[in-house]
Amino acid sequence: MTVPAFIEARRSIRAFTSDPVDRTLLDRLVTAACLAPAPHHSRPWRFVVIDTAAGKAELAAGMGAQWRVDLGADGVDPARIDELVEASRVKITTAPALVLGCLTWDGLDRYPDEARLRAEHGMALLSLGAAVENLMLTAADVGLASCWVAAPIFCPDAARTALALPGDWSPAALVLVGHPAPDYVPRERPEVPLATLRAHR
Ligand SMILES: Cc1cc2nc3c(=O)[nH]c(=O)nc-3n(C[C@H](O)[C@H](O)[C@H](O)COP(=O)(O)O)c2cc1C
Repeated sequence: MTVPAFIEARRSIRAFTSDPVDRTLLDRLVTAACLAPAPHHSRPWRFVVIDTAAGKAELAAGMGAQWRVDLGADGVDPARIDELVEASRVKITTAPALVLGCLTWDGLDRYPDEARLRAEHGMALLSLGAAVENLMLTAADVGLASCWVAAPIFCPDAARTALALPGDWSPAALVLVGHPAPDYVPRERPEVPLATLRAHR
């Protein structure tokens, strides 16, 4: 049994050459993202392309400052905090381009109760995941490397402030994009344990 080759071909690639990524290509990735399914025919996402040194540095610094606070509150050793925050800064600032996926309430329903509001937000987040997958599949298809980075979902306010984004954009998913470093070997991909992950009723 096989799945389509273009799905198998996408891997998280975390090392890039220093070549920049053409903005036309980045727009192609974002266009693919925006073809994702979304609730009520909405497009509750906004994508921020960050390919300037200043933009990358500001995002890394803003998110890093918040992470530093969170790690401190967790009681992590200060030297380890420095190490983690610096590694994150290097990862973000050395990627040739970043695409930051943000959620908005544009086109979504509003409910008077928390439970349905949470469900509506969850639907939007699911659709952002589909959009990010489209983006990464397209990156793989055009020979670009990409890797999803979780950080902004943990510190949306810091990411929004760092990039001076509108108040109703909530940063939720960051994708590093670049030309793949030739010697990068993706982690081994385990077989899909279908019997565990799939049930029949
Ligand atoms: C929501 C989400 C958050 C992720 N965050 C990170 C991250 O912060 N850093 C990282 O290196 N990879 C991150 N990844 C990539 C996963 O580690 C990767 O997709 C997984 O190991 C499977 O490998 P593959 O993408 O090569 O198939 C994330 C993936 C998802 C879906």
